[in-house]
Amino acid sequence: MSNTATVVGAFWGDEGKGKFVDYICRDVEADVAVRFAGGSNAGHTIKHPGEEAITMRLLPTGGSRPGTLSVIGAGVVIDPDILIREIDTMKGINPDFDLVVDYRAHIVLPSHRELDTRKEGARGAQIGTTRSGIGPTYADKANRVGIRIGDLTGDLDELYDKARLLATDIHHSTNIVSRDQIQQWSRKLSEFIGDGSRVVNGVIDDGGSVVFAGAQGALLDIDFGTYPFVTSTSCLPSGIGSGAGVDPRKVSEVVGVVKAYCTRIGAGDFPTEIHDEEVASIIREAGNEYEHGVHIDRPRRIGWLDPEALELSARVGNYDWLAITMLDVIGRLDEIEIPGVGTMPGWDCDIGDIDSPDELPVGLLRYLDEIERISGCRVGYISVGADTSQVIDVRGRYLW
Ligand code: IMP
Ligand code: MG
Repeated sequence: MSNTATVVGAFWGDEGKGKFVDYICRDVEADVAVRFAGGSNAGHTIKHPGEEAITMRLLPTGGSRPGTLSVIGAGVVIDPDILIREIDTMKGINPDFDLVVDYRAHIVLPSHRELDTRKEGARGAQIGTTRSGIGPTYADKANRVGIRIGDLTGDLDELYDKARLLATDIHHSTNIVSRDQIQQWSRKLSEFIGDGSRVVNGVIDDGGSVVFAGAQGALLDIDFGTYPFVTSTSCLPSGIGSGAGVDPRKVSEVVGVVKAYCTRIGAGDFPTEIHDEEVASIIREAGNEYEHGVHIDRPRRIGWLDPEALELSARVGNYDWLAITMLDVIGRLDEIEIPGVGTMPGWDCDIGDIDSPDELPVGLLRYLDEIERISGCRVGYISVGADTSQVIDVRGRYLW
């Protein structure tokens, strides 16, 4: 039987998906890791024991494992310069690194980024985007005037003319990609461009194992998220249908990654936001809750676990398992609040070295029980630190 999993963020992104994608890819010895939504607005960080942390914005983190093919699905939007840099980084970590980019994926042009920044500067229109050009690129795709990565394998003069007209006539921008740049993209990326959907379906049908790596989080989903303060794609597990060309029914396990508290970057309602700056900053510093984007750096907003948001996320995500991150961070507080539910004491001890479910503090287990009660989902994995080795598989709790 093929072994397939989808891993998505359950809230507003930055739950620590990157680590779980990497962990599950190693656990199931994944043949393929697939990115299916978003673009370089995301940042997925992994840290292997004794090594420096690395952040990937486009490539799935699982591709750092020798033997795992990386795929970027049709639903992703690609900033080619960033992709080229990441391919080089991955080759440094994994000499076996290989990649298929679905030819249908759209390209983010400099004028898309300019448009995103211009819109964010306009009064009344601020979403707090990452200014990576994501929204404008998806808008052009829906408007059927976009440029696809597969176009880099065709007539480059035609492609240049199309990009120029898009910038001048539609984006009203003088920020035009150069012919040289297009030629360089084509030279460096053509060997990786193919039919991602065919590759992934083929591996699954042959009994191989595939891990789909979500981007952003369920509540940034364009349809079910906190509109208009959302991103421009489907961030749900079902997004693999449109984003990778794979029927979601082919996936055996869906994992929703839940941070032990909530964070948001950008604007939008945040009912459980912690306004006591002393408490918020304990979490922000311990959890390193700062966004280092390509185009923007900012502290993340911090809040308590939001029961209503969790209930919605569990409904539209239908997770088989939850993976809970940052339990080492929230446990430092004397008192943890779940709005509408009550408060509970923290677990004032170092849990970073724990590697068996039997050793977990009672307070932490109570917190997990509460998360299960609210979501109606089972907690299958927890993480107790930043390293990929600090993941504990607690699915066995259900076999006793
Ligand atoms: P955009 O995706 O850059 O258009 O930004 C739209 C909203 O989604 C903003 O609130 C961003 O801060 C947020 N966002 C986009 N990508 C991520 C992510 O990877 N993590 C967390 N928030 C994100
Ligand atoms: Mg992130």
